[in-house]
Amino acid sequence: MTGEGKGRSPFNPGQPVPAELFTGRQQEIDRILQRGVGQTALGKPTAFFIQGEYGIGKSSIASFAQTIAERDHGLIGIYTTLGGVKTLDDLAASVLEATLHSGLYDPTWREQTRNWLAKYIGKQDLFGFSVNLEAIKVDAPQLASALQMLGFLREAHDRYARARGGKGVFLVLDEINGIAPMPEFAQFVKSLIDSNALNREPVPLLLMLCGTEERRTQMIECHPPTDRLFDVVDIPPMSEAEMTDFFRKAFESVEMMADDDAMLVMTQAAAGFPKIMHSVGDSVFWRVTGKRVDHPTAIRGVIDASREVGRKFVDAQVYDAIQSKDYQSILKKLANDLGPFREEFTRKDLAAKLNDSEKRKLDNFLQKLKKLNVIKSLDTPGRYQFRIKMVQTYIWLRSFEK
Ligand SMILES: Nc1ncnc2c1ncn2[C@@H]1O[C@H](COP(=O)(O)OP(=O)(O)OP(=O)(O)O)[C@@H](O)[C@H]1O
Ligand SMILES: [Mg+2]
Repeated sequence: MTGEGKGRSPFNPGQPVPAELFTGRQQEIDRILQRGVGQTALGKPTAFFIQGEYGIGKSSIASFAQTIAERDHGLIGIYTTLGGVKTLDDLAASVLEATLHSGLYDPTWREQTRNWLAKYIGKQDLFGFSVNLEAIKVDAPQLASALQMLGFLREAHDRYARARGGKGVFLVLDEINGIAPMPEFAQFVKSLIDSNALNREPVPLLLMLCGTEERRTQMIECHPPTDRLFDVVDIPPMSEAEMTDFFRKAFESVEMMADDDAMLVMTQAAAGFPKIMHSVGDSVFWRVTGKRVDHPTAIRGVIDASREVGRKFVDAQVYDAIQSKDYQSILKKLANDLGPFREEFTRKDLAAKLNDSEKRKLDNFLQKLKKLNVIKSLDTPGRYQFRIKMVQTYIWLRSFEK
């Protein structure tokens, strides 16, 4: 590694991207700003579901939209992530806690919330304050119904309006995966939206949920009317132009520049997948000596990244589960054939590339990958697709390794 004197890596695999490096997604952001933020700032409640596969950039879009809404449109952002939350009580607790952390760049509002919610603040220390989780837990059940939650959000809005001339509340419930299958959750969300709409003076609330399409479907199954509540924003893979733009911006921020052929290696490896894009960027960053990212450096970085990504996500879930030599070899042939971009494959095409011993194991192999949630069947029999593109990309990256 040649990390000395480089400064800080601008890449953050696994964390929502900081606003300065947020790239692309113009259409999605415009839609949220026009149909959501703009409307809610005029008093109209709106609701969005940000939908897309794992690591595609849902949280980043939500937090970027919140930042703009807060900075330019007078909405106060409350952001909470519900990973691991399984009850409405826990949901209420996490909204309460998130409110204490709202207005990160607005000292006046911070002061206000701390007075308002003083009983939930623990010790004040050098580094700020700690949250009194016990007190939050005790009171959360009182906020665990739609009407009470609405009352709480109204209070937040009123206070923000008085303190800062605020126009409304932008509430993000991120990572709803654990709670989405619960009928009470769908019911809660629906009555939150409906009772607000029926109100003579609705709370100007922009409610945003983030999750996979599967979770949205689950909510609809639990409670069919949830279907029509949301403006659904689908997050597609990033385009090559968006990725190039991102890499350029990120490297520029540390005064580095990538050659065109190096850029191509990086964007192809990232395959539209922002999480991989950051891993690739980070690995390349640590490989660079000097200020120029050239082709060999990019390739080295991509190989490092593939190890990194794979070690974290794919090895444990895929390779450990399919240790047979034939399986591994089928997987490699499949990955080579698909590359990082092609979406679907057929049993027939794959079979044509296999030797006899592999051919005999093909059906078991496909079953196994399905069971591991790596691939899914498509409508036509014999056609498949990788469920998570990142996995396809990694297996593809890994197929270059000796
Ligand atoms: N528009 C963007 N510009 C630059 N980087 C991005 C962008 N969107 C996402 N990223 C980066 O991609 C990675 C995944 O993004 P994010 O965490 O927002 O995705 P997600 O869909 O919320 O993932 P998960 O399914 O894990 O919740 C992060 O490292 C993030 O910094
Ligand atoms: Mg996320």
